[in-house]
Amino acid sequence: MSILHLIDTNQWFSSFSVEKSEQAIHALEQGHILYLPTLPFQLFPEENEFLSPSFAEPKAKNISFNRHTQILRCAKCPAEKYDRLKEMMQRFSIQAEQLVQSLLPAYTAEIQLGRTSFRPIEIAGRLSSYRKDDTRLHVDAFPATPNQGRRILRVFSNINPHGKTRHWRVGEPFSEVVKRFLPQVSKQWRGSAALLKWLKLTKSTRTTYDHIMLQIHDRMKADLNYQKTVAQQSIHFASGASWIVQTDHVSHAAMSGQHVLEQTFYLPVAAMANPALSPLMVLEELTGRSLT
Ligand code: SIN
Ligand code: FE
Repeated sequence: MSILHLIDTNQWFSSFSVEKSEQAIHALEQGHILYLPTLPFQLFPEENEFLSPSFAEPKAKNISFNRHTQILRCAKCPAEKYDRLKEMMQRFSIQAEQLVQSLLPAYTAEIQLGRTSFRPIEIAGRLSSYRKDDTRLHVDAFPATPNQGRRILRVFSNINPHGKTRHWRVGEPFSEVVKRFLPQVSKQWRGSAALLKWLKLTKSTRTTYDHIMLQIHDRMKADLNYQKTVAQQSIHFASGASWIVQTDHVSHAAMSGQHVLEQTFYLPVAAMANPALSPLMVLEELTGRSLT
């Protein structure tokens, strides 16, 4: 069965029936990817010049924008282009938010806006440490930004101007990932969360949940045999297409592609239609204790 749940729209803000929205939320929470093949993010002609790896720091994976603070992190953007790049990312961020509001209205009261990113570097052949290597299957967990159980929901848009797809691999369901890797998770050292926060290595407290998710993330990526042999499917996201996925429970790897925009949202577990499907509740059920 395909993991893609098709959504037919060419508008970032359109009206969906209650039934379509409920189906979309159900699919998303089951670990499917909402695929919108006819929803491109339109660039203005003067923005095409941003489709170049020269804007990103060679070591950085992306350029990031925080709509709340209006800060754009792009070390190599010339001063005179800074505002235009910011405007492009802000426009994408607003449209991604409109899409979530119109397609997933049950989430809108509680959903929180995270970072916007622009990824102008070709993935294939990019060098990185195994932990940062997104060509290895993983579930998302952020070392410096604990999400304390909240869901990670991401909207992607492939803006490649040459028709190049973004090629992902998608692995086994979260319940299987956990069966395999939870037994390997080492205990969180007592006092480590407070120390990490005091050293400003984390922006908030790394809860036991965050600790476990990070360990699962790292252990998945470290296991090359798992990477090769686990049940998986290959997905090519077309240029001009967008997709929505909860990357904290969908095991994914980005194999090749260049020029994608991405908006991160955080969703409290209580706002889900079925909170029992959240990684937090799955892990709490298995460990028999509260993890946040
Ligand atoms: C990732 O979240 O692992 C990377 C996804 C992408 O850039 O396509
Ligand atoms: Fe990821």
